[in-house]
Amino acid sequence: MSDERKSLDSLTALLEQAGGYATAKVLTTSAKLGFFSPPFPLVSPEDFAQDRQLPVRGVRLLLNVLTGLGIYEKKGNKFRLKEGFRQLFGGHELLDDLIHHDRLYDVWGRLEERIRLGGSVPLSEEEKGHYPESLAVFLRAMRAHAAYLAPEILSEVSWEGVRDMLDIGGGGGGYALAFVKAFPNLKITVADLPDAIELTKDMVAGERKSHRILFHSGNAYTDPLPAGPFDRIFISHLIHIYPADENQALISKVVRHLKPGGDLLLLDYFLDDTETRPREAVLFRLLMMIGTPKGDCYRLSEAKDWLAQSRLVPTAVHVLPRGNTLIVAKKG
Ligand SMILES: C[S@@+](CC[C@H](N)C(=O)[O-])C[C@H]1O[C@@H](n2cnc3c(N)ncnc32)[C@H](O)[C@@H]1O
Repeated sequence: MSDERKSLDSLTALLEQAGGYATAKVLTTSAKLGFFSPPFPLVSPEDFAQDRQLPVRGVRLLLNVLTGLGIYEKKGNKFRLKEGFRQLFGGHELLDDLIHHDRLYDVWGRLEERIRLGGSVPLSEEEKGHYPESLAVFLRAMRAHAAYLAPEILSEVSWEGVRDMLDIGGGGGGYALAFVKAFPNLKITVADLPDAIELTKDMVAGERKSHRILFHSGNAYTDPLPAGPFDRIFISHLIHIYPADENQALISKVVRHLKPGGDLLLLDYFLDDTETRPREAVLFRLLMMIGTPKGDCYRLSEAKDWLAQSRLVPTAVHVLPRGNTLIVAKKG
């Protein structure tokens, strides 16, 4: 292939990436407007529009785009979500993950402003996701993430002797549910901020084995933690909301609630030492700069230093899908 051809191909790929927001916005808007919500009948744009109380023109255009993307199928003037997607969207959480992305889209829209002005751009309450309905969507999106990562954690990590566990920042309850369902003798306390705990109680109520999930309301960084001591403490996707010194203090506090020989599982988007990989982690770090007052993503080596300072010994590092890394560290 000629050099000229190669650089044209790279330019096309770059432009496709730059225009990726169009597809992203089609997907997240469609989720918000009910295009992926059950029931999934074969429907004309007119009937769909009437049902959702939307003007028909945009509905027709969106249905055509979704068909072009291979998500809907078109028969004459009628459209239907394809079979595979009907199954995917039959449960609620994937849908909420897409709706959550719609909020993140707005947050990403502040990127230039945030880079130019640094820490001085206040986000609206909606952008921060502090409204109760945004928090509920957020927590259900977290459950969607837990649904694909919990099986990995169950299979990668030894669960021998783990009876009493604490999940700090465990809002949504996705991991707690997956873990108590997997082990009949396991009891988990989910600790989170008061609003998240109230919603999480409702979200897990009635689920199989949920009687073995307990709740603790409070700020893990500033309030007392449940006493324990626990066999295992799990902290997933919490530390990227807080600065390094506060995370280090949290870890030294957490250790006091672990039994000797117990372990801490720390799951997050950790960076390599070049701070350029994994891709998901590097992008997420930028999102934390835009969307949180003091959040950040940390190098794996930095997190290991925090653990060492609390006399926790890393016994394994598991590289999980989509840029996630799980550190297992034991209390001696
Ligand atoms: C990104 S979510 C992760 C949820 C879950 N651990 C997971 O991995 O899917 C962060 C969670 O931490 C909770 N959280 C944030 N700050 C907290 C604090 N200071 N104390 C306790 N929980 C906190 C949030 O309410 C939210 O449920």
